[in-house]
Amino acid sequence: MPYTAVLIPGDGIGPEVTEATRRVLSAAGVPITWVERHAGVAALDRGADSVLPKATIDAIVEHGIALKGPCTTPVGGGFSSINVALRKKLNLYAAVRPVRSMPGVKTRFENVDLVVVRENTEGLYSGIENVITDGVITSLKVATEEACRRISRFAFRYAVHRHRKKVTVFHKANIMKLTDGLFLRCAKEIHEADYPQIQYEEHIIDAACMRLVQDPTRYEVILCENLYGDVISDLCAGLVGGLGVTPGANFGDQHAVFEAVHGSAPDIAGQDLANPLALLMSAVMMLNHMGNIHRDESLRRIAGRVRAAYDVCLTEGETTRDLGGSLGTSGFADAVIRRLGGA
Ligand code: NAI
Repeated sequence: MPYTAVLIPGDGIGPEVTEATRRVLSAAGVPITWVERHAGVAALDRGADSVLPKATIDAIVEHGIALKGPCTTPVGGGFSSINVALRKKLNLYAAVRPVRSMPGVKTRFENVDLVVVRENTEGLYSGIENVITDGVITSLKVATEEACRRISRFAFRYAVHRHRKKVTVFHKANIMKLTDGLFLRCAKEIHEADYPQIQYEEHIIDAACMRLVQDPTRYEVILCENLYGDVISDLCAGLVGGLGVTPGANFGDQHAVFEAVHGSAPDIAGQDLANPLALLMSAVMMLNHMGNIHRDESLRRIAGRVRAAYDVCLTEGETTRDLGGSLGTSGFADAVIRRLGGA
């Protein structure tokens, strides 16, 4: 196999959806040798001393690319989020979450085709919380000019490469005048200096949410800081059929980790109920990315075949229950495999 990539099964539904995805990719002839590493509760269960073992980080650094299942972060207690830690450690500063109407998936809207670009390393997710005194706690929102400029540049570059005409920044600079104010200033300056051909808008996030649920087709690329991006991603998922159909990627300058927007869904774990499509779509993003960096058209062709196969399944109603069908996780993978055309 000419390529290697790290596979992290994760927790909850993670092992089920990663296995389904791996089977589809293998049936499609993807030339990747998977290097399996663990994170989350799964890592502790295997004797690691941390939810994010050094061996897992080292493997991503070595291979450059990972496909990751969701990891559980227990609420409260001493665990910090594995995902936040992973993104910070590897400097995966840009989360990209494409949200598009899927064939055969009936929702209130048609023709949604937008992308959420989320700053992934700072904001309130810096995790700097302090007990000032009994009953008084603060949480520090961090904004640095470097990170704000970096994510803005990424969003505009993404818009140009994907032939998108407009970038809209969601913000709350009317209240958070300094932090969100800096974010806005950086986005605006980069737009004016380097991307004047792209239409640029600034929307206050509360009103933007209303506009999103009234008419999501008016947005193309949504650029926001960390917490807003997290929330908006799930809202957008709801516009096109839910968390089962929203893929994602975390990009840094050196590494990329591809993962669905959804979490480990403990409520349905181990029951063959999870929809593996969001992770499969993330894998398609991964193949296209690898195709670009290695200038290997065959990877992009395989990505196209996998996408065409799941699109046919959706059109024919061969889906998991969250999308109204009757297939289980592995049954959906089988259906996609049946629909894969020849090479
Ligand atoms: P969740 O995304 O796991 O679940 C929310 C709801 O969506 C649940 O009802 C679940 O059954 C459903 N759902 C999610 N994925 C689905 C799929 N593929 N197919 C069908 N239904 C699906 O969010 P929740 O419950 O807030 O988080 C659970 C755990 O996941 C937490 O520990 C959280 O920290 C973690 N998490 C991890 C993420 C990651 O590793 N990237 C991202 C988000 C949450």
